[in-house]
Amino acid sequence: RSLCAFLAGMETLKTLPLERDDPFQPPAVLKELHGPLHPMTYADGRPGWLVTGHAEARAVLDDPRFSNTSQGAAPPIKELAPPEGLADLVIPPGFFIAMDDPEHSRYRRLLTGHFSMRKMRRLEPRIQEIIDGRLDEMAHAGAPADLVRAFALPIPSLVICELLGVPYAERSRFQDTTARAVNLDNSIEERGAAGAELMAYLSELVGRKRADPGEDLLSELAAGGELDHEELTGAATLLLTAGHETTANMLSLGTFLLLCRPDQADLVRADPGVAQSAVEELMRYLSITHIGPIRVARADVPLAGQTIRAGETVTISLPAVNRDPARFPDPDRFDVTRQAGQQLGFSHGIHQCLGQQLARLEMRLAYPALLRRFPTLRLAVPAEEVPLRPRATIYGVAALPVTW
Ligand code: HEM
Repeated sequence: RSLCAFLAGMETLKTLPLERDDPFQPPAVLKELHGPLHPMTYADGRPGWLVTGHAEARAVLDDPRFSNTSQGAAPPIKELAPPEGLADLVIPPGFFIAMDDPEHSRYRRLLTGHFSMRKMRRLEPRIQEIIDGRLDEMAHAGAPADLVRAFALPIPSLVICELLGVPYAERSRFQDTTARAVNLDNSIEERGAAGAELMAYLSELVGRKRADPGEDLLSELAAGGELDHEELTGAATLLLTAGHETTANMLSLGTFLLLCRPDQADLVRADPGVAQSAVEELMRYLSITHIGPIRVARADVPLAGQTIRAGETVTISLPAVNRDPARFPDPDRFDVTRQAGQQLGFSHGIHQCLGQQLARLEMRLAYPALLRRFPTLRLAVPAEEVPLRPRATIYGVAALPVTW
C-alpha cells in the first residue's frame, strides 16, 4: 500500500494535523495536500487514511461497508487512544451514534419525527425567548462579558432542557452540571464526576416521565414503550452531549469570526434573512468537528484510485472537505451570502446530525439577535489573545471576552 502511495506521489501523514496558524483557517498542512485521499499513520502506529475530498467524504459516509461502532478503530490522535488495558470501549445502551444499522435505525426511526422542520418551527418562539433572556441578562450585568459563559453555552443547554422537558426549577442545576462536565478548565476527574451526575439525573428524570408524562420528547418516547429505561437514558445523554458543545462552539467561534469581519457582521445585522445562508457559510468555513467522522472499513473498498483494506480506519477531515475547491469555488473566501448548502459540517449518510434543524434554528435566531441588541459589540482583547481549543474534540474558543 505504501508503495502505491509512493508511486502516486503521496506522502504518508504522520498524524492528523490540528494546529492552526490562524483561528479561522484549517491547519496549514491540510492546505498543502493535493488529492482527495491520503495515507496517514494513526497514533497507535497502524496505517490508515485521511479523506479531504468532498465527493470522497460523501462516498465513505454513504457506504454501509464503513462502520461507525468504533470497534477496531485506530485513534487519529493520541488523546483518543483508549486507556491502557482497555482494548475497545463498550458502547452504552442508547448511544446510537456508535451503532451500525439495523441497530442504529431502531433509534433513529423513533427520534427523527421529533426533530422535523415542523417540530422545530413549533419550538421557535421558545428558542427566541431563551435567546432574548440571555441578552437581557448580559445587558443587565453590563460590559465586559465572556460570551461563551454568558451566551453560547447557556442557549443550547436551555434548549435541550425545553426539548427533554427538564422542569423549570431544576434548570439552573442542570445547566451548572452540564457546564462543569464540558468545561475544559476542569480536571478529567471533575468532568467525569459531573458527567456521571448528569446521567444519574437523566435516569431519574426518565423515571419521573414514565410515571407522570408531560408534553416533551422524553415523555413521548417513554410512553411509546419501545425503549427500556437504560436505552432511553443513554439516548437522552447522547442528545445532550451531541447538541451542547457543538452548538455552543458554533455560536462563540462564529461570533468571533463575525466580529473580526465587520463587513459580514453588518450584512447579518441589517437583514436577519441573510442569517440562513450565513449559518451554512459559518458551518462550512469553521467546520468545528475537526477530528472525524471516523469509520472502519469492513471490506476492501476502492476509493480515489486506492484500495482501503478491511480493518483500516478512515478519518474524514471536515475542515478540508468543506474547503474543497472542486465543490466550493474560491473556498477560502468567507461570504455570508454564499449558498453553501452542500457543506458537510453536519456529516452525511445514516449518522447525519439528527439535531441539525434545531442547531440551524438556534444559530439563525442567535447571531442576528446578538448583533442587533449590541450594535457596538466588539472583542475586549486583541484577537490574538482569544484562547483557542486546537486539540479539543470540538474546535472553538475557550472564552470570548467581548464589550459593547
Ligand atoms: C450527529 C455535528 C448539533 C444531535 C452529528 C454528526 C456531526 C454533528 C458531524 C455526525 C457524526 C458522524 O457522522 O459520525 C453537529 C454540529 C452541531 C450539532 C456541528 C451544532 C452546530 C446537534 C444538536 C443535537 C444533535 C443540537 C440534538 C439536540 C446529534 C445526534 C447525532 C449527531 C443524536 C447522531 C446521529 C446518528 O448517529 O444517527 N452531529 N451537531 N446535534 N448529532 Fe449533531
